[in-house]
Amino acid sequence: MQRGNGLQHKRVIVLGGSSGIGLQVAKQAASQGASVVIASSSAERVQKAVESVGGDAQGQAVDVSDERAVATFFSKLGTFDHLVFTAGDSLHLHDLAATDLEPARRAFELRYWAALAAVKYGSPHIRQEGSIVLTTGIAGQRPQKGWVIAASVCGAIEALTRALAVELAPIRVNAVSPGVVRTNLWQSMSSAERERLYESVGKSLPVGRVGEAHDVAQAYLFLMQEGFSTGQTVVIDGGTVLV
Ligand SMILES: NC(=O)c1ccc[n+]([C@@H]2O[C@H](COP(=O)([O-])OP(=O)(O)OC[C@H]3O[C@@H](n4cnc5c(N)ncnc54)[C@H](OP(=O)(O)O)[C@@H]3O)[C@@H](O)[C@H]2O)c1
Repeated sequence: MQRGNGLQHKRVIVLGGSSGIGLQVAKQAASQGASVVIASSSAERVQKAVESVGGDAQGQAVDVSDERAVATFFSKLGTFDHLVFTAGDSLHLHDLAATDLEPARRAFELRYWAALAAVKYGSPHIRQEGSIVLTTGIAGQRPQKGWVIAASVCGAIEALTRALAVELAPIRVNAVSPGVVRTNLWQSMSSAERERLYESVGKSLPVGRVGEAHDVAQAYLFLMQEGFSTGQTVVIDGGTVLV
């Protein structure tokens, strides 16, 4: 039997949807007929994002690193079809010798622990044939020097994805692993440094450029709709693992 097309009549929740990859997921899902709920920590950025998505979009400010706030958010949300988690903050990259373990532990708070909280409190409200799409990064498979902690977080999310796929079945749980993508994630760098990074990484890749948020967002849309993959990490990295 053929599954229904697009995301008509589906409700999609995007935690971390106020910018970058999450915002593009929200836009593409809305353009395919989904009603979308965007959440991020800033009410102002959520409001702007909701306006830019248009269609049937709503938003709410939620700090997803606050477990009680996440529990309250889902307790009031009602049922939905797909949960997408793209929340992330600036990366702190250090060589091991310069790594302070206390802040290093905190690197797991948003990407790992907040994702787990979102799944714990969100999954009971997911309708039949629904799914969860988490976010990791290609550093888990292809770390650079200075990426010990960031790569470890990515590896943890990939293992979490497989474990959740077993734990929550028949809800499907997958992850997307982007390479370098031009988003606000890199905003702690000066714009000159950032452009140098995009240029040098882009030149080194088989595709000849870094990613754009809309490239990567398509993978989330695919994973929500295709219905037969679970526990998988889909790599959208311009060929980073090949070089
Ligand atoms: N861009 C890349 O090169 C790249 C590569 C590999 C993996 N990734 C991963 O992809 C994910 C999305 O990143 P992006 O590139 O799209 O970055 P982005 O544009 O900075 O988006 C991050 C999102 O997370 C939200 N957020 C941050 N802290 C939050 C909190 N405490 N509670 C709720 N929302 C929060 C931000 O909104 P507010 O600031 O309004 O809260 C924003 O909507 C991240 O996990 C990142 O590590 C990105």
